[in-house]
Amino acid sequence: MAQATTVPTTGRAWHLIARPVGWPTDADFALREEPVRQPRAGEVLVRNRYLSLDPYMRGRMNDARSYVPPFRLDEAMTGDAVGEVLASEAEGLAPGDLVSHPFGWREFATLPARYASPLPAVGEVPVTAHLGVLGMTGLTAYVGLREIAKVREGDVVFVSGAGGAVGGAAGQLARLMGASRVIGSAGGAEKVRALTEELGFDAGIDYRAAPIGEQLPEAAPKGIDVYFDNVGGDHLEAALDVLNVHGRVAVCGSISGYNATRPPTGPRNLQLIVGKRLRVEGFLVSDHSELRSAFLAEVGPWLAEGKLVHRETVTDGIEQAVDAFLGMMRGVNTGKSLVRLDG
Ligand SMILES: NC(=O)c1ccc[n+]([C@@H]2O[C@H](COP(=O)([O-])OP(=O)(O)OC[C@H]3O[C@@H](n4cnc5c(N)ncnc54)[C@H](OP(=O)(O)O)[C@@H]3O)[C@@H](O)[C@H]2O)c1
Repeated sequence: MAQATTVPTTGRAWHLIARPVGWPTDADFALREEPVRQPRAGEVLVRNRYLSLDPYMRGRMNDARSYVPPFRLDEAMTGDAVGEVLASEAEGLAPGDLVSHPFGWREFATLPARYASPLPAVGEVPVTAHLGVLGMTGLTAYVGLREIAKVREGDVVFVSGAGGAVGGAAGQLARLMGASRVIGSAGGAEKVRALTEELGFDAGIDYRAAPIGEQLPEAAPKGIDVYFDNVGGDHLEAALDVLNVHGRVAVCGSISGYNATRPPTGPRNLQLIVGKRLRVEGFLVSDHSELRSAFLAEVGPWLAEGKLVHRETVTDGIEQAVDAFLGMMRGVNTGKSLVRLDG
C-alpha cells in the first residue's frame, strides 16, 4: 500500500442524531470520534481539507422521499469535500493527490476510488474553487442558464439568491453568455452593494428592505426574459409578474421554504404562465454530469483570466461546521460556504 504519513487511528465526523422540525438546532447533531479505516483493494484514504455546505443538505435531514435519500440517524452525514490522499490501494491515485469526493462532514474518509476525482487542471485557481465556481455550484449555474433557460444574447436576466454561491455564479455567467442586463436580489445592503460593485450586476435588490414584488418592476423597466430561481415563494411570484412573453424560468431551488413548518403561500399568479406562454422548468445538476467537461472548458478560462469572481465564506474547524451550515441557511455567507480543516 502507498502511504504518505502516519495515519491517525481516529477522526471526527458530524452525525445527525435527530430529525429537525423547522430550523435545526445543535441538539440535532453530534460530533463523534470514529476509527479511521485503512483502505482495502480499490479504495483510498483521504484527509479532508475543505467541506462544502449546501442548502440541499437541509432536505436530507428530513425523513421524506426525495431525489436524494435522507441522512441516516447516528451516521456521518455526507456532502462534497476536497482532500488529500493519505493512503491508496487504487491504481491511478497516490498519496499527496488532491481529490474531490462526496464524503464530507468528517475529517477522514475511506472510500472506493471511483468516487474520488482528481482536481481538473484548469490553470492557476484556488483549490476551494473546485467546490465553488468550478464545482457543483458553478455547474448548477451553468446548467440552469445554458441548458434550462437557454440564455441568449441580449436577454434581461434576474437571479435571486445572488449573494450566495450559485446565484453569484449565475449572474456573472449570464453576463458572460451575452445577457444585456443582469439583476440580482440578496438580503442586506452590503450584499447588494457587492453585486453591482464587485460582481458586475447592473442592478441589485435588497429583498429585506422592501417586498421584492415592489422593487423588481423598478429594476426591470423592460421586463425580464429569464429568471434563475434560487428562492421560490414571493421571489417567484415577483418574477412571474415581470417576465416578458415567452420568458423562461430555471427553477434551481426554493430556499425560502426549506425550514418552514408550513408551506409558503404562493406564487398566487401562476395563471400568467399561460397568457405569457412562459416555460418554467426545474432541474437537478446531478442529471447533467455530461456537461461537466464543456462547463470546465468554458468557465475554467474565465476564472483563470479573472473574468469570473470566486467568492467564499470559509469557517475554520470541523467543530464549527453545524453553526456554519445554519449561518449559511440564514444568509451569513457571501459566495460559497466552506469549512476548512487543519491539515
Ligand atoms: N437544482 C440543483 O441541482 C441545485 C444545486 C445546488 C444548489 N441548488 C439550490 O440553489 C440555491 C442556492 O444554493 P447555494 O448553495 O448557492 O446557497 P447560498 O445561496 O450560498 O446560501 C443560501 C442563501 O440563501 C439565502 N436565503 C436564505 N433564506 C432566504 C429567504 N427566505 N429568501 C431569500 N433568500 C434566502 C441567504 O442569502 P440572503 O442573505 O440573500 O438571504 C443565503 O446566503 C438553493 O435553493 C439550493 O437548494 C440547487
